[in-house]
Amino acid sequence: MLAMNSKDAFSMLKIIFILLLSQNFLNVYSFKPEPRGGHMATLSNDKLYFIGGSRPIPTTSSAWNITHQFGLSDEVFYLELSSSFTVDLPPFTDLSATSRVPFGCEKGTMVLGVYGIRMYLVGGVQQDMTTFGYNTTNSSLWIYIVNSQKWDIPGPGTAGIPLPRRRSTATTIDKNGVIYIFGGRVEVDTGSNVFTIFDDFFTFDTVLLRWTNMSSLPNLPYKRSHSTATLMPDGKIIYIGGVTQSIPGEPATRISMNEINIFDTIASVWSQKSALGIVDPRVGHTSVLAPDNRTIVILGGSQSYGLNQTTPYPVFVLLDISSEPFQYSYPQPSGESPPPLAFHTATLYQNYMIVGFGVADLLADLPQYLPADLLAHLPALNKSMNHRNNIQQL
Ligand SMILES: *[C@@H]1O[C@H](CO)[C@@H](O)[C@H](O)[C@H]1NC(C)=O
Ligand SMILES: *[C@@H]1O[C@H](CO)[C@@H](O)[C@H](O)[C@H]1NC(C)=O
Ligand SMILES: *[C@@H]1O[C@H](CO)[C@@H](O)[C@H](O)[C@H]1NC(C)=O
Ligand SMILES: *[C@@H]1O[C@H](CO)[C@@H](O)[C@H](O)[C@H]1NC(C)=O
Ligand SMILES: *[C@@H]1O[C@H](CO)[C@@H](O)[C@H](O)[C@H]1NC(C)=O
Ligand SMILES: *[C@@H]1O[C@H](CO)[C@@H](O)[C@H](O)[C@H]1NC(C)=O
Ligand SMILES: *[C@@H]1O[C@H](CO)[C@@H](O)[C@H](O)[C@H]1NC(C)=O
Repeated sequence: MLAMNSKDAFSMLKIIFILLLSQNFLNVYSFKPEPRGGHMATLSNDKLYFIGGSRPIPTTSSAWNITHQFGLSDEVFYLELSSSFTVDLPPFTDLSATSRVPFGCEKGTMVLGVYGIRMYLVGGVQQDMTTFGYNTTNSSLWIYIVNSQKWDIPGPGTAGIPLPRRRSTATTIDKNGVIYIFGGRVEVDTGSNVFTIFDDFFTFDTVLLRWTNMSSLPNLPYKRSHSTATLMPDGKIIYIGGVTQSIPGEPATRISMNEINIFDTIASVWSQKSALGIVDPRVGHTSVLAPDNRTIVILGGSQSYGLNQTTPYPVFVLLDISSEPFQYSYPQPSGESPPPLAFHTATLYQNYMIVGFGVADLLADLPQYLPADLLAHLPALNKSMNHRNNIQQL
């Protein structure tokens, strides 16, 4: 068998950013989602589903005031990827008529179950859309049934003690349908008066319907929120970035990007590795495994937290995990640079990384939501991509 050169394999990854700035395009697809950040995205059957997120309230709206500048979304919509389309007309379909989430949501994680028919929304903010109260339901896990387009909670057969609801956890699902959830935080927007970051490690087996607290395993990483969790084909989960906290109530401090934690889901063992290179610590970034299976593509994020958000550099970073120590690199992609983004989503589809929404312009006093409705990298895109020209190709 001819082994593919990994550089070639990586060069297949293409990232194209599409900015939809034109307000007057011929709108064949009636749904044009608003800008947002902190939303969830999951791929199922050539459809990229987007859930919730935080949307800026226009300052001209009567709902706007200084403490209420962002409103959560309960929307569900998807982007059809199976056929070609042009960047002017991304084929979004709104499912909100049947599928509204029972609360406004952000900063949870959405994963696809093994049979491709259920998506699992793990933790996150749950805000009542009318009262703006933050403890809307008692379930930390909500299930979206793709065919019926309805939401449900785990049934009475569910075993084990559920993880209490937290947000900004590091969460992924393995090929057996086991969801791994590490860390996360609670604060006012998650019903807690005391800002607390956790080091709990829980699994939820979506096949056996069983919660397990795995926090007693040796070498557990210290507490953290906003780390990314990337599953490798060999069953290892790679945790990158985020913030930690010394004691509840204290401000968060940033975790070095040179410390990488790994959980081996096969051996059930934690380990720590180091990564060489100078990369600003960050939250709100994304990590996606490239098709070469040895490069993690890290994009964007915010360097600090709260309202004082600044852009972490480099914005676009690769982590080579094929040998130790791991090694960062900062290639200069061709084309115009994308805007720095945070709280966007990045999803691998074939050889494309689809980047959705996000907060841009972090240096401004308040984060601006990108006027773009979608930043995407799409296959079979027929029209010339010179539109807005934000093409990244490696
Ligand atoms: C801002 O709006 C929210 C939501 O309506 C309300 O709960 C809050 O009291 C308002 N704050 C101020 C300062 O008006
Ligand atoms: C959550 O559970 C408590 C205790 O069982 C109950 O009183 C409360 O109404 C529940 N809240 C919601 C939103 O279901
Ligand atoms: C929200 O729920 C959590 C977990 O049950 C509880 O600790 C907290 O007190 C609740 N907060 C409010 C404002 O009801
Ligand atoms: C999980 O287990 C650990 C001990 O192994 C315990 O300290 C922790 O409180 C448990 N977490 C929850 C949320 O029950
Ligand atoms: C990467 O891993 C996937 C899943 O195991 C496999 O299908 C694919 O062939 C691998 N790609 C390369 C370039 O090794
Ligand atoms: C905001 O971040 C910048 C850069 O990290 C720092 O110099 C500044 O002191 C911070 N401001 C506040 C209010 O924390
Ligand atoms: C655009 O797509 C059509 C249908 O798939 C194909 O026939 C045509 O060659 C494509 N055009 C370009 C420029 O790729």
